[in-house]
Amino acid sequence: MNKAEFPRRRRHLMDVMGADSIAVLPNAPVATRNRDVDFPHRSDSNFHYLSGFPEPESVLVIVPGRPHGEYILFCRERNIEKEIWDGYRAGQQGACDIYGADDAYPIDDLDDILPGLLEGKERVYYTMGNQAVFDQQMIGWLNNLRKFSRQGMHSPNEIIELDHVLNELRLFKSGAEIKAMRRAAEISAAAHIRAMQFTQVGKWEYEVEAEIIHDFMRHDCRSAAYPSIVGGGENGCILHYIENNKKLKNNDLLLIDAGAEYDYYAGDITRTLPVNGKFTASQKTLYNIVLAAQKAAIEAVKPGNHWNQSHEAAVRVLTEGLVDIGLLKGKVNSLIKQEKYRKFYMHRTGHWLGMDVHDVGDYKINDNWRQLEPGMVLTVEPGLYIRDPKGVAKQWQFTGIRIEDDVLVTQTGCDVLSKDAPKEVDEIEALMA
Ligand code: GLY
Ligand code: MN
Ligand code: MN
Repeated sequence: MNKAEFPRRRRHLMDVMGADSIAVLPNAPVATRNRDVDFPHRSDSNFHYLSGFPEPESVLVIVPGRPHGEYILFCRERNIEKEIWDGYRAGQQGACDIYGADDAYPIDDLDDILPGLLEGKERVYYTMGNQAVFDQQMIGWLNNLRKFSRQGMHSPNEIIELDHVLNELRLFKSGAEIKAMRRAAEISAAAHIRAMQFTQVGKWEYEVEAEIIHDFMRHDCRSAAYPSIVGGGENGCILHYIENNKKLKNNDLLLIDAGAEYDYYAGDITRTLPVNGKFTASQKTLYNIVLAAQKAAIEAVKPGNHWNQSHEAAVRVLTEGLVDIGLLKGKVNSLIKQEKYRKFYMHRTGHWLGMDVHDVGDYKINDNWRQLEPGMVLTVEPGLYIRDPKGVAKQWQFTGIRIEDDVLVTQTGCDVLSKDAPKEVDEIEALMA
């Protein structure tokens, strides 16, 4: 990420906070995998958004107008012994020199130093409920300040949810962020193409997953943005299927939902392909209903339209299609009103996309769906999942289809960031031939 982004973000936050305030944000704790083994650390997205500082055991503090510096990092001290085992540490010098902190202190001194920074402030921007241990520390510091208020110490009167302020900033992507998201989408699309070319009857689902991860890594992404979903046949009907441990069967479809994380930004693409390279007539019929729904939903992504319009467009096309092929019976409008489509389409058509795959930002404002504005990024991902065989002709049974793209709202409409991943039936068949 362009280094100028981080101070710009902190300045935005400080403009919202105003004087007499302080923001406190601990990084995500390290998670244990088993016994002496930890999961690879990935910074909390808000923490990274403001600091770019990648180490665990760190706390970011912002104090607008503080004469000795507005941006303070608490982090681990340099320690040659520990660095031999666990890797480099920036230390306090590095926090300032490399990551632009005005001031840095050892994380072990937090308890001594933070109360002094809280003292005298009116408002504390801190999100309770994310980290129980840190919450307890924060409550302790604030209670102590209150105890001493009779001796003239001033304790903060308000605690304001920091996440909510940051979520609103993160919802609107800057030029540098859009560049990173475009790259995440390109890399993800390339991996989907590789998966299409690799897929064959008799391969294991996890072999396809391995191709995808391999392609992410060789394009500078150390991790997927979320566990890849690689589901053959009826596994494609399980929305968050991640076992990925079955053999791919002839005449089944394969649903792949996989996205790379590039420089902390997520791609999130789903494609559905025929395991043997050729859609059956019934599969093609269902697939083209989902594809038409997805195109109609993308069409509805433009400034001025509200959040739910693309969902409404998808639901209409899906319901019409389900009536056409006899899976629903009745009038389209009343089927939509009664939500009869939910038997085959039980999720919503998208979500915000950014540093988190299900990114932050409100979907409604004052109970009304939010208007789309340039710089927002969302997914468009309708699907059909024919799982329950009751009342369903054999030709449609146990079929799961989803098509998902990443879409940037522009001044005039939208830009599909993941457009490199083919989604027309003949394109997919040609790639797999
Ligand atoms: N990959 C999770 C989702 O599509 O929402
Ligand atoms: Mn997805
Ligand atoms: Mn998604």
